[in-house]
Amino acid sequence: MTYHKQLTIGLFGFGVVGEGLYKVLQQTPSLSARIKKVCIKDPNKKRNAPPVLFTTDREELLQDEEINVIVEVINEAGPAFDIVKTALLKGKSVVSASKKMIAEHLPELLALQQETGQSFLYESAACASIPVIRNLEEYYDNDLLHGIKAIVNGSTNFILTKMFEDKLDFQQALLLAQQLGFAESDPKLDVEGFDAVNKWAFLLTHAYGIIEHPDNLLFTGIQNIHAMDARVAAEKGQQIKLVAQAQKLTNGKVASFVIPQFIPQEDHLAFVKNEYNGVVIESGFSDKQFFYGKGAGSFPTASAVLSDLSALRYDYKYEY
Ligand code: HSE
Repeated sequence: MTYHKQLTIGLFGFGVVGEGLYKVLQQTPSLSARIKKVCIKDPNKKRNAPPVLFTTDREELLQDEEINVIVEVINEAGPAFDIVKTALLKGKSVVSASKKMIAEHLPELLALQQETGQSFLYESAACASIPVIRNLEEYYDNDLLHGIKAIVNGSTNFILTKMFEDKLDFQQALLLAQQLGFAESDPKLDVEGFDAVNKWAFLLTHAYGIIEHPDNLLFTGIQNIHAMDARVAAEKGQQIKLVAQAQKLTNGKVASFVIPQFIPQEDHLAFVKNEYNGVVIESGFSDKQFFYGKGAGSFPTASAVLSDLSALRYDYKYEY
């Protein structure tokens, strides 16, 4: 394939994902993608990159005509939406990892894409390294999609695995998830299911065309799961996992929720441990497929951002 686009990137955020992307891009010279400027909040923090790369002035990126792609990995919904909106209106393509922002602003983001004709991609926002959005977009026919069952939050899956297999208590397991960089800065977002339902909101859009604010979806987290529950499940050869699930009903409507479930050993999702995510898609004629991979962490998330950058070279857009 012949690619015509040189990507000159303005990067917002240099945390776990931003720094991961910076390192990954150093190993992908054939992509013709270069980070020109990085916007950060704290200029005094020590970073492993040339100081000239950094600024605290967002306009240096947004007003720069040479920058044709904004990558936004700041994960604060309000400021992230403002950056994305300004960048699209400026005629730039945007890649984002901000799941909360995407879930909460999807109708406005769809309108902005229509209005500007720019690409807005966010494969990294759900299931990190698993290419779930593009598969739902391109491979499956909505009419034939019978159901999806998925583990979309790495931290809760990590905590539950540690409680089951290493007999850690909840707090110890959560602390470990935080130390390893999987957990949100407010871990309540993981533990109480907010992160999972945010991701689920836009996965439902790509699967079934449903646009629903996450507040309107049924969900709960793992806050009330205790070591005792884990032990009882283990005695029965089962695990407890936080599962997001949607089923198409015979009347064509879709029923959906995010809730902890008992998972028997023969279920594909039983295989999904620690920070890994897994997605089981059931579709007419193709039967079941199981997607599996790391759902959190610096490089797995950066690899999904990289795949979006790669798709921008041929101006890929979601069809919804
Ligand atoms: N806190 C999120 C998780 C990070 O644990 O899945 C990746 O989105």
